[in-house]
Amino acid sequence: MVVRHNLHRNVRILLVGDRGVGKTSLILSLVSEEFPEDVPPKSEEITIPADVTPELVPTNIVDYSAVEQSDMQLVEEVQRANVICVVYSVDDDDTMDRVTSYWLPFLRETLTHTHRCPVVLVGNKVDLVDYSTVDAAMEIMNDYKEVESFVECSAKTLNNISEMFYYAQKAVLHPTGPLYITDKQD
Ligand code: GTP
Ligand code: MG
Repeated sequence: MVVRHNLHRNVRILLVGDRGVGKTSLILSLVSEEFPEDVPPKSEEITIPADVTPELVPTNIVDYSAVEQSDMQLVEEVQRANVICVVYSVDDDDTMDRVTSYWLPFLRETLTHTHRCPVVLVGNKVDLVDYSTVDAAMEIMNDYKEVESFVECSAKTLNNISEMFYYAQKAVLHPTGPLYITDKQD
């Protein structure tokens, strides 16, 4: 019999990605179930009590803002995280290119091998486009095995927002092989 011990007493989710991809909007949309029209540069840290999370584990959600934080503060947050959502905007190729030219290599450099930290790749703003970035995302997942899952979502329409945070929790609590989500909610 295999007994799995769950060592995580909480899950700390960090969102990173280029400016303007919608990190803060994603967090505020999740919390208020409504798209924030006026979005601050950085959300406060959000604590979600265990009983309202799908995996029943207390969850902290942490925003990153290049305007408000130094490179050193980013490194510290990366090292404290249990899972990192790397966000790009599906309507802006540059932000997706930066996932492989900057963000994933930066995370590899910053995370030592003693602190394995799964990544969820998040394509935000699907409300703006009528195509999917799944093919490019699959290539990224092939090249970077730390990417546990992929989700396309919209902070504006709330499409796949709760799923995004659920997949982040799941990447920590039940790490598996690659997985991706492209189904859109109505
Ligand atoms: P920085 O704090 O500068 O790093 O940016 P950010 O990643 O936190 O992005 P933010 O949430 O501030 O959103 C940037 C802009 O994109 C704002 O004008 C948002 O209203 C808009 N935005 C965010 N998410 C969506 C979305 O899903 N769809 C659309 N259409 N616009 C969005
Ligand atoms: Mg922000």
